[in-house]
Amino acid sequence: MTSTTRPFRHPRRLMMTSALPYANGPIHIGHIAGAYLPGDIRARFERMAGSEVLWVCGSDEHGAAITLRAKKDGVTPREIVDRYHSEMQEAFAGIDMAFDHYSRTSSEKHHQVAQDFFLKLLDSGSFEVKTDAQFFDPEASQFLADRYITGTCPKCDAPDAYGDQCEKCGSALSPKDLVDPKSTLSGATPILKDTTLWYLPMGRHEDWLRDYIDNGKFNGKAHHDARAWKSHVTGQCRSWIDGGLQSRAMTRDLDWGVPVPVEGADGKVLYVWLDAPIGYITSTMEWAAKAGQNWQDWWQSDDAELIHFIGKDNIVFHCLIFPILLKEHGGFNLPTNVPANAFMNLEGDKISTSRNWAVWVKDYLEEFPGKSDELRYVLTSIMPEQKDSEFTWSDYRERVNNELADVLGNFINRVIVLTKKYYESEVPAIDRAKWTADEDAIIQALDAAPGEVAELIRRNRYRDALQAAMGVARLGNKYMTEQEPWKLKKTDEERTAVILNTCIQVAANCSVLLEPFIPQTAQKMQAAFGITSARWEQASGSMMPHGEVLGDLPILFEKVEESTVDAQVEKLKTSLASAAPDAACEPLKPMMNFDDFQKMDLRVGEVIACERVPKADKLLQLTIRTGLDERTVLSGIAEHFKPEEVVGRRVTLLANLAPRKIRGVESQGMVLMAESADGSLRFVTPEEGTAAGDTIR
Ligand code: 2FM
Ligand code: ZN
Repeated sequence: MTSTTRPFRHPRRLMMTSALPYANGPIHIGHIAGAYLPGDIRARFERMAGSEVLWVCGSDEHGAAITLRAKKDGVTPREIVDRYHSEMQEAFAGIDMAFDHYSRTSSEKHHQVAQDFFLKLLDSGSFEVKTDAQFFDPEASQFLADRYITGTCPKCDAPDAYGDQCEKCGSALSPKDLVDPKSTLSGATPILKDTTLWYLPMGRHEDWLRDYIDNGKFNGKAHHDARAWKSHVTGQCRSWIDGGLQSRAMTRDLDWGVPVPVEGADGKVLYVWLDAPIGYITSTMEWAAKAGQNWQDWWQSDDAELIHFIGKDNIVFHCLIFPILLKEHGGFNLPTNVPANAFMNLEGDKISTSRNWAVWVKDYLEEFPGKSDELRYVLTSIMPEQKDSEFTWSDYRERVNNELADVLGNFINRVIVLTKKYYESEVPAIDRAKWTADEDAIIQALDAAPGEVAELIRRNRYRDALQAAMGVARLGNKYMTEQEPWKLKKTDEERTAVILNTCIQVAANCSVLLEPFIPQTAQKMQAAFGITSARWEQASGSMMPHGEVLGDLPILFEKVEESTVDAQVEKLKTSLASAAPDAACEPLKPMMNFDDFQKMDLRVGEVIACERVPKADKLLQLTIRTGLDERTVLSGIAEHFKPEEVVGRRVTLLANLAPRKIRGVESQGMVLMAESADGSLRFVTPEEGTAAGDTIR
């Protein structure tokens, strides 16, 4: 077999990016199946095929997604992005995303790169500066990003539409469309106030974008194969262009983001969708500096192509807006493909972070340790390549049990065990006279498979590519079962050797062809076949010479019990219930850790005296026996309880709260009360049988 004539040699540098995830929450399976797993499979494959490939990513740390989350948690945006930047990196590493580099957009380097990019566009007249009335929150005294404004949808009357979109009817909105707009920062009615913004006049670019999307042409020349783009991607782009491209503001009046590098632009930052895709370039620059390479070779050379892996909600930004920015800057390549994926649903419903309807990568890895390949396999099998797809736990179980364990694991295991038993683990030599058409068919399939899988991967058909690679394992498993070498061993020694040798070839091929999809399992298999740093071209019908000694194999896949997946579904339902708060419920406060909790000294106290505090309508003065002492505690409950109702009660006391003087009286602690939504107060009374001095933990 000559390898050089195979169709998978790729002559050009391949610059690949995966969408920079917002650093505002953990990573779930929908993220992985959308923008990351296809990138990882492609990158791993290209590396094995000897292509020059670079795959970068990073955290998207700006924009309303971050500031809203910070606001909700009562912490700074910096705290949010630091937390999720490292959490996301851990999740990605846990599921074996082999990025060449993972960056973040809040870095100084990125700010500088994005600012330089902006200035270049400013210089070349790419923007229009307009002073316009924008919504401003008079109480929070700041301009409001679209997401900070809610109101009634003008199309469907839904009460909680956002300034940029109504989630009920799906309409794209502008904040000024909302009926009865409210600021989510303060609840105030926003006012319109003039501000200066830099706009990208996208309308100017319609003609060339149409040629680029429809015909794969750029500057009048062939640029890429437009037919290789997914139809849902080109379809979405076309409908945007046909609808007329509106000017879009490229700056925002906010205090979190990349500052607009122009004098007098204080309090203005770059629009997050301007700075985030430039993050791909920053990430490449950081990688190049470490690797001793030129980043320009990847972004600006004729010999490089650019592919963006994203989810379908990012199509317009990567196929229209970013290309405009790259073209206006000059010198950059435009994407040659944007193989966006649709969404993955979960157990019949949309994945939702706020409703906690998700399978979080971190939780999965904790609950299924060492089983990242199982999840990768299932997610690839059902990847939403052309339309939305659905993850269910019962399907997960079936695929792991019936495909990974029963076909792949079982086959490889039988090959290793029988070779050990019959030939002391040596690949047996074969007698050509015992060769049949069955073996011919297998070897032909093995010779063809690497090219077929490669072709499918390069056409971004990862589901089919995985099926083609698994087809090899199925073929081997079926062949072995039909040939029954364990029966022939006693009667036909030569024939048995032919069959086992053929099975070994199949198994070794599987270990190479499956590596992009299930890398950890592939490593275990390759170790057994003595293969190190597998190259794609190694896969062929004659991979394993006779005499080679095979190693041992750990169990590749354990079966998943029905109770295990049932428990996962149960967990989803429970967490959904707890994530759906009563309308009247106060939102959850930011998380604290156990150490924070440990600092509180809570104990049972007994109220031995109680009186009103003169000139304070709300306060009662309690004398409480704590076991340690008798102390005075002031409590704001006078409107709810008479002193005589309080005396004799056992209460829950926060005993180590720093003393505070109120109305001249020192209060030494705090009595815990439960407050209902209607404002009524009740004591948190320790159960019958507890006594003053008992500790609470
Ligand atoms: O949708 C998102 O999660 C965005 N943070 C994706 C940004 S992709 C890019 F342009 F950086
Ligand atoms: Zn609506």
